[in-house]
This record gives sequence, C-alpha cells and structure tokens, in this order.
Amino acid sequence: MSGIRTTGPVQWQNGKVARSDRERLLGQHAVTVWLTGLSGSGKTTLAFELERRLVQAGRACYVLDGDNVRHGLTADLGFSPADRSENIRRVAEVANLMNDAGLIVITAFISPSVTDRARARAVIGNDRFLEVFLAADLAVCEARDPKGLYARARAGQIPEFTGVSAPYDVPEFPDLLLSTGRDSVDHCVDEVMRLMTDRLWLSGPSDRR
Ligand code: ADX
Repeated sequence: MSGIRTTGPVQWQNGKVARSDRERLLGQHAVTVWLTGLSGSGKTTLAFELERRLVQAGRACYVLDGDNVRHGLTADLGFSPADRSENIRRVAEVANLMNDAGLIVITAFISPSVTDRARARAVIGNDRFLEVFLAADLAVCEARDPKGLYARARAGQIPEFTGVSAPYDVPEFPDLLLSTGRDSVDHCVDEVMRLMTDRLWLSGPSDRR
C-alpha cells in the first residue's frame, strides 16, 4: 500500500493478495478522483453522474460524499479548521483502503485546505490521484444555494461557512479545472473521463505502457 506508516509497536501486516492482483481481478486501475470546490459547485452531482458513467463502462467504483460521510464515519466532526482536517484525513485513508481493494473512488468534499489536499494526495499516492477543481464562482454557488445554507450563513446562523466566513484555498495546479458554473454536467463528466483515458486509467492493467 502507498503511504505506509509505522506507529510505535504496531507493524504493517502484508496479506497474500496484492493490490495489483485485485486490480487484475477487476480489470481496472484503482484510482481516486478527488473533487474539490465550494458548497453548491456541483461536486455531488458530478460524483454520482461520473460513478454512473464508469459503472456503465464496466468499472467498479464508489462515491465518498461529504454530506453522507458526515452522517457516519465523521459524524463526530464539525467545521472548525481542525475538524475539517481530520475529516479529510479520514476520507483519504478510506479512499486509500478502497483503492487497495481495487475500487475506483470518487470523493466529493469541499476540502478547502491546500495542505489537507496535499496530504490526501500523499496518502493515496501521486500516481493514482486526480485533483479536480470545480471552479464555480462564489456568486454562482450562492445564487444556486440548493440547500439554503448560504442564506443562513449570511444571516449569521451558520458559523465558519466556506466562502462566507471560512476560507477556501483555490487549487493552483489542479489536474483538471472544470467550469461547473457554466458547463453542463455531461460535458464535465466527459472531461474527467477523457483525462482518465489519457492517463490510461481506463485501459486494462495489462494495456498500460
Ligand atoms: S469539508 O470542508 O470538511 O471538506 P464537507 O465536504 O465534509 O466539508 O461538508 C460540506 C457540506 O456540509 C456542505 O455541502 C454543506 O451541506 C454542509 N455544511 C454545514 N456546515 C458547513 C460549513 N460551515 N461550511 C461548509 N459546509 C457546511
């Protein structure tokens, strides 16, 4: 596994089946597509449509979505900078485990901190991590306000709301920038699939150069 860390007396135990065996079994490259962007930028919509298209193309994948994961795995966390870091740390670890299991993972989290995103890349592995920035302007996200949260944040009812009263570090060098405020969901999914194809991530493991 990438990102193996030793914690005191706890040692990593190797199984008898490698990630590459599981990738061969499933006939795919196990990668993580990491979506980042403001609330309302379209992460969840894009994630689920990308998952649908990948499954249609015969790929086994799974979406880790912020609102869903915060109901369980990270239900104990809020939105302070420390809690958001811990949220992203856990998600990166789970994505890494799911990749190790052979699955393609799509994550949909605001993930506002450049440091936390870099740490996620390091845990998952640079060669299987695609950072996709959903670059919808704050004004567009706020006008959409699908959950009415921006209105509540402006009214002072939600503290530390990303884009309003908490920061979002715009990715400087994302692998892909999508104009989700302007382009259709289908167009954006096409762009992600094209980049995955260019990287030979959608070819069978033996086809890889
Ligand atoms: S992250 O910053 O830690 O990556 P995450 O993606 O898990 O955030 O959760 C964001 C979702 O939580 C938003 O889509 C929104 O529905 C909800 N939410 C509740 N409070 C906040 C807040 N203070 N800032 C941003 N999103 C919030």
